Amino acid sequence: MKKQERRKEKVDMKVAEVKVLYTENPLGIDRVPWFSWKLASDKENTRQTAYRILVEEGGRRVWDSRKVETADNLYIDYEGESLKSRTQYHLEVTVWDNHGNEAVGYAQFETAFLREEDWKAEWVVPAARRKKGKKGFGKQPPATMFRRRFSLKEKPVKARVYATCHGIYELSINGKRPDDRLFAPEHTVYEKYLCYQTYDVTGLLKKGENALGMYVGDGWYLGANTLPNIKRPVLKHAVLFQLEAEYQDGTTEIICSDERTVTSTGPICCADLFAGEKYDANKIHKGWDTPEYMADDWQKTKIMKFGYQNLMAQLGEPVVREDMLPVREVLRSPKGEWILDFGQVISGFVRMKVRAPKETEITLEHTEVLDKDGNYISNIMAAGGAGNGVDQRDVYISDGEERIFEPTFTYHGFRYVCISGLSEICAEDFEAVVLSTKKKNLGIFETSDARLNRLYENTRWSQKANMMSIPTDCPQREKAGWTGDMLVYAKTALLNEDCGAMFSRWLENMEHDQEENGVVPMVVPYDGAYPATGKLMNLMYHEKGAATSSGWGDAAVIVPYRMYEVTGNTAVLRQQFECMKKWCNYIIQKAAASKPKGSTLSDEIENYLWDTGYHYGEWLIPSQNKNGLDMKNLKTIMMSSSCYTAPIFGWLSVSTFAKICGILAERYPADKKDYGRMQEKYGKVAEKMKYAIQKGVIREDGSMPSNLMGAYALPIYFDLVPEQFKEKFAANLVKSIEENRMCMDTGFLGTPFLLDALCRIGRRDLAYTLLWQDKAPSWLSEVDAGATTIWENCFGYDEEGNPGKLSFNHYSFGCVDDWMFRYIGGIDTDTAGYSHIIFAPKPDDRLEWAKRSYETPQGRAVCEWRKEKTAEGILLNMKVEIPCNTTAVICLPDGSQQERGSGIYEFCNVMRKEEKK
Ligand code: BGC
Repeated sequence: MKKQERRKEKVDMKVAEVKVLYTENPLGIDRVPWFSWKLASDKENTRQTAYRILVEEGGRRVWDSRKVETADNLYIDYEGESLKSRTQYHLEVTVWDNHGNEAVGYAQFETAFLREEDWKAEWVVPAARRKKGKKGFGKQPPATMFRRRFSLKEKPVKARVYATCHGIYELSINGKRPDDRLFAPEHTVYEKYLCYQTYDVTGLLKKGENALGMYVGDGWYLGANTLPNIKRPVLKHAVLFQLEAEYQDGTTEIICSDERTVTSTGPICCADLFAGEKYDANKIHKGWDTPEYMADDWQKTKIMKFGYQNLMAQLGEPVVREDMLPVREVLRSPKGEWILDFGQVISGFVRMKVRAPKETEITLEHTEVLDKDGNYISNIMAAGGAGNGVDQRDVYISDGEERIFEPTFTYHGFRYVCISGLSEICAEDFEAVVLSTKKKNLGIFETSDARLNRLYENTRWSQKANMMSIPTDCPQREKAGWTGDMLVYAKTALLNEDCGAMFSRWLENMEHDQEENGVVPMVVPYDGAYPATGKLMNLMYHEKGAATSSGWGDAAVIVPYRMYEVTGNTAVLRQQFECMKKWCNYIIQKAAASKPKGSTLSDEIENYLWDTGYHYGEWLIPSQNKNGLDMKNLKTIMMSSSCYTAPIFGWLSVSTFAKICGILAERYPADKKDYGRMQEKYGKVAEKMKYAIQKGVIREDGSMPSNLMGAYALPIYFDLVPEQFKEKFAANLVKSIEENRMCMDTGFLGTPFLLDALCRIGRRDLAYTLLWQDKAPSWLSEVDAGATTIWENCFGYDEEGNPGKLSFNHYSFGCVDDWMFRYIGGIDTDTAGYSHIIFAPKPDDRLEWAKRSYETPQGRAVCEWRKEKTAEGILLNMKVEIPCNTTAVICLPDGSQQERGSGIYEFCNVMRKEEKK
């Protein structure tokens, strides 16, 4: 074996990316922060040996961690003096490494309001009555403009606005927006958790007269599809803002929302996050948010006592414009419609340049797919749980001027846009604006196979489209935080993007939506139609509280645990601890308290099986949903797999929680919780649950109650199969694939584990067969059919080529990327946060090369390999990059292994023929 080492010019070690609560230099935090950083160095084998953190406020030291001899550099708690509201803190992190280097990294953070009393502003609403909004296009009252004029004695040296609303808003100061965020204040459990945003508006203010504007649309709070689960909410746009200006002489001035705020309606005649927006340019109030504007005919506002107790400074980044796509083609459908094809299914809206005669009404209808003849069709299943309408429409009414129009308070899931109202279509006048919650990209994956690359791209696009303030199921139908979808997809998501802040915020909300009895609902935030549907479901199943299901509520434990596995995040484990514990207690109690009718199992087994109640089962097992959701047989279908998913996911939550207790005991010894004891307690219960699965779910002859692929894959993957049945399970799993035309046939809950289960039984060849399969249902059949995203149902189209009514943008089945990253990309780990990396690509014959790069919490890990044909046989050339403060094992094709520290290394090794284990 030959090894070459590449050395570039040497630089000393650096401290990079100092993060405060997930973000670099956050503005407006309201919780005690933790800090993380990375080391960067060209010197091989660089490890941190110690750090020291200093935090200062106004030149005064408020924390000195002292030198701590450790390699730990992630999620380090601030332990200094109590923080003060609205204060800037400077952070200095000194790091020492094993080569005798010392380097310093800097960051700053600013607090928002740490006490309720900091709020001086009043909630205000328009004094006039508001008509109730309904579902469907055009059925909402107009968006509301709020305006407050004020004067300042000087131009301030520092100014902040803290603002939020009921609805979604855009803030402007003297006609300018302080940032490019959309859909503030985010989708949350509003009654208990309403985010406010902090803006730096120093540069926008001037001496003398100024104006603050807030344009407010319905968003989630007032949207008929997403009404918050609040008893008798006041369904009016409401705002709360507090501007704090600091002058050169040290004095400050506070401008608040109060009855001096006036309101009006404007060009946005109606806006619904689902159905779309209608914009009448004739109603534009030019300069409405500047001081010069005369607002004499504007209406009064009145003060409401909504209180401040649910207000939380926004954690993490907002929704932003991520990309702009040009029109790929202007199509004329057989029906004569003008259709723009943007070439990619996305979440967002169309930005259009218009010059049309006054009163011209231009309509944009959005869809993900066209019918088989190329006509416009709405592919929204109207009868979905959310019961939302079928519109995804924007309408613009011209005032005769040339303008750029884009909607403000809606977004759509689409690739195609059908346009009416224009006599001529000029492709250059349109662009698709791609939206997503802002997150750092963490990965690259590329191979010699264009179809695998497209599959990866499709997952990335579905991820982008469904990270819209919360993780959603799909952008065109429900836009809802289905917990099970995230359980399935969390690991892939975290390997693609830095989702920490967004997930952490969503998990905090999950805790707010959790019922007293521990139930974590199937959807978080649990709003809109879901609580009502949940009640019906509960009536049918004699359940209480919010509706949940195994595999969905289990997200409470599994999502934080995935965050820990991928990013080493112990902070989120601690944050979610009570929520996880309550959920596990719910499962345990549920398993003990009820048994299915006619069960003949002994109590010792039955009391540890979660086998009653409502469950989705694996959900969308392809063979059971060939023609979309089979509503008629839904219950039977769900039960055919919930007989194993419920006991297995119940066990998974409890056993994972026991592990988490162990992790917390080690990491936070000073916490007053009795983590160690709980590890033991829940560990014991998990053992009994495992035994119950082995005796009560797996039959005496080693078969499963349903002969489904997932029924064998899940127990194999989770090591639940008793020794004497291992061969039988392996054979049954293989048989289920053979009988299914060598296609995958697992639903949401089975799919993340299917290919790994095959590798565990030594059938990596079969895992590759499923991956390469191009007959439906399979991943590549979607790619071959021209998919640009991951579909909800593997059978997207019927045999005639008509699209089904399910969504074409659902990330769940994209979870296969996690397997590709490890087996093809060659990067895996056996420790939390990739502190020890495993480079072990296991390519099959159909691939020539691959490149995977993943920004681990410690820095970039890269694995690049290429096969080379030589006289001696096939060689594998491999190049790996190992980030500082980690170690790695490189597994070569001949079976040898090399342990290395940070650096860039190249290897060349003879490939042996793959052998079946
Ligand atoms: C959603 C899913 C979700 C499922 C639960 C659907 O309507 O789109 O992704 O997990 O319901 O059954």
